[in-house]
Amino acid sequence: MDIKKIFENNKQRIIEKLKIDPNHFKKLAKTQNPDILCISCSDSRVPIEDLMGAKPGEVFIHRNIANMVPNTDLNVMSVINFSVVHLKVKHIIVCGHYECGGVKAAMQAKDLGLLNPWLRNIRDVYRLHKKELDLIKNEDDKYKRLIELNVQEQCVNILKTSDVQLAYRDRELTVHGWVFDIHSGELIDLNIDFDKMLQEIMEIYRLS
Ligand code: CO
Repeated sequence: MDIKKIFENNKQRIIEKLKIDPNHFKKLAKTQNPDILCISCSDSRVPIEDLMGAKPGEVFIHRNIANMVPNTDLNVMSVINFSVVHLKVKHIIVCGHYECGGVKAAMQAKDLGLLNPWLRNIRDVYRLHKKELDLIKNEDDKYKRLIELNVQEQCVNILKTSDVQLAYRDRELTVHGWVFDIHSGELIDLNIDFDKMLQEIMEIYRLS
């Protein structure tokens, strides 16, 4: 994409927005009150707001390679803290996507330098679910399932945080695991049973 073209596009976009509502940017500048935090992949083919049909102000977004929620990543942990405690979002969505390069890279025996510790979190997901994944003989199906299980485990990581545990207990917050099927354009709810999962994990991860 031509960098100059971006500024031309931007000017055009301003004209279009103001044509619909002359106060569009004035309203946007006032405040934000999103109900949703979405954690998705940085992949350029996953324009998550566009896929959701969301307008500016509706979704707080965090993106990184393979939509990860590592327990020690100050970036994603700050986003979760801010959106739960201050924005008081009602939903946290982790949205993975099929054909995720990050997940594929983690499945290969390859030294990727600085990326190793990041991708190791995905290898840990594989290890946790090795029994199930080893039963899948078709490599593409295994890759797809690992993408789904990675979403599930990142949701579990969200549930391990004290901010989320408190909001969850008060029924103010719901966590969702989704996957974007890049082949069809469809957003798929993995329908992860978090209430059941919480019973299993809270014995270990309960903070208060
Ligand atoms: Co990806």
